[in-house]
Amino acid sequence: MDVHISLVGRKDLSGEIYRQLRRAILDGRIRVGSALPPSRVLAERLSVARTTVTVAYDRLISEGFVESRIGAGTFVSPQAIRPARTGVRPERPGVLRPQPVWQQFGLSTAFANRARIDFRTGLPEASLFPTQRWRRLMARATAAEEVAAGVYGHPAGHRGLREAIARHIALSRGVQTSADDITITSGTQQALDIVIRVLLRPGDQVAVEDPGYTPPRLLLRAQGMRVIGVPVDREGLVVDAIPRSARMVYVTPSHQYPLGVPLSLSRRLALLRWAERHNAAVVEDDYDSEFRFGGRPIEPMQTLDPAGRVIYLGSFSKTLLPTLRLGFVVAPLSIRDAVHKAKYVTDWHTSLLAQETLAQFIEEGGFAAHLRHARAVYVERHATMAAGLDRELGEHLELVPSDAGLHVAARARAATPEQVVEVVERASQEGVEVHPLSRFAVMRPLSGLLFGYGAVEAERIPEGLGVLRRWFERCR
Ligand SMILES: Cc1ncc(COP(=O)(O)O)c(C=O)c1O
Repeated sequence: MDVHISLVGRKDLSGEIYRQLRRAILDGRIRVGSALPPSRVLAERLSVARTTVTVAYDRLISEGFVESRIGAGTFVSPQAIRPARTGVRPERPGVLRPQPVWQQFGLSTAFANRARIDFRTGLPEASLFPTQRWRRLMARATAAEEVAAGVYGHPAGHRGLREAIARHIALSRGVQTSADDITITSGTQQALDIVIRVLLRPGDQVAVEDPGYTPPRLLLRAQGMRVIGVPVDREGLVVDAIPRSARMVYVTPSHQYPLGVPLSLSRRLALLRWAERHNAAVVEDDYDSEFRFGGRPIEPMQTLDPAGRVIYLGSFSKTLLPTLRLGFVVAPLSIRDAVHKAKYVTDWHTSLLAQETLAQFIEEGGFAAHLRHARAVYVERHATMAAGLDRELGEHLELVPSDAGLHVAARARAATPEQVVEVVERASQEGVEVHPLSRFAVMRPLSGLLFGYGAVEAERIPEGLGVLRRWFERCR
């Protein structure tokens, strides 16, 4: 496949290759399923460094336009464009067109292909899920009165589940709340969608962490918000760098995603003062802090906030399974009714069957037992990962200290972001998948890697790190 790319007079060469390839995919000039030229070949053709091309390819992969298949190459993903069902060619004048924002990113299909050793983040150990027990509880839940009645429920969700969650987060996180403040959602992502609808208008500015978790940024942009990246240092989000005009700040204070540092107590208090001074909201995404391996947990921002500015989001994606799509939002009283209405107009309520099953699982003590077991598994993986990184990759990477969650970050000592991307690509060809830190940059590219250990058995961690070490040595 010979796609025309012109770099004459251009400055940002990687960005230009990325944009021209993206356009060619969206226009249908490069068909779904066809291969992009190998990065080395395209680099030679364009007379640029190979890493210039690999950075562009990595961006296309992370946005779901293309996917890399081990040992075979890089292919246009079937999800990159959907063929028009009516058979009308999408480029014909006068056909329906989505708003431009929906052309700006593709669907990520990354997880459809599991790797031999998968260090990508966002994956808990699926084999820990208590399948038998869940099946039994689900059968019982099917007959439960609320489910069997066959009528819609309250948009805030199943009362028993909300009470069970209120007790659980009071114990595990010290979040003081009542069931009335909780709304059950389809994961954190829907919770954020609802909060945006309730509090913001298109064009509003929202501050996010840089580097930070990508899905909220896409959601904010899709809703017409202006997203501003705010740097993160050893104490977490740099509160002094938040622009005054931001109406909302989205943060991961317990375990910053991706770097893993907790937001210090003084920064938490400064952020609350900032929000009060500027009449802004703080969205606290507490996505994985059930898994702590040392150190004292810092109080959630929600408990430090007497003014009702913090919206607390929780998820069962890490503690149970991301495919369950279960999460919740703890909303301050002033927006509670609006949150219920926003949930109601979005999808009425989350599946009652799933809610009833989870409520019983928590009530019977199954969830607490599962967390104890999972914590023991992850504590070993966390220790193996930290020791392995030091031993195998200490020369190339510096671990960012972190004692919670299911991943750690490591900054490159010397390698550039482009060199790291090359290591990632090479390792991928050997069945080892890992995210480069640069993928999570908003404005400031960072050089390093992110190691998820949720889905990699402790015994396999050294093997995966060994593959990466070899490629760090060769790609110098
Ligand atoms: C920072 C962060 N927030 C939230 C989530 C969970 O999102 P959801 O509940 O929508 O699955 C994840 C999962 O990987 C995450 O990394």
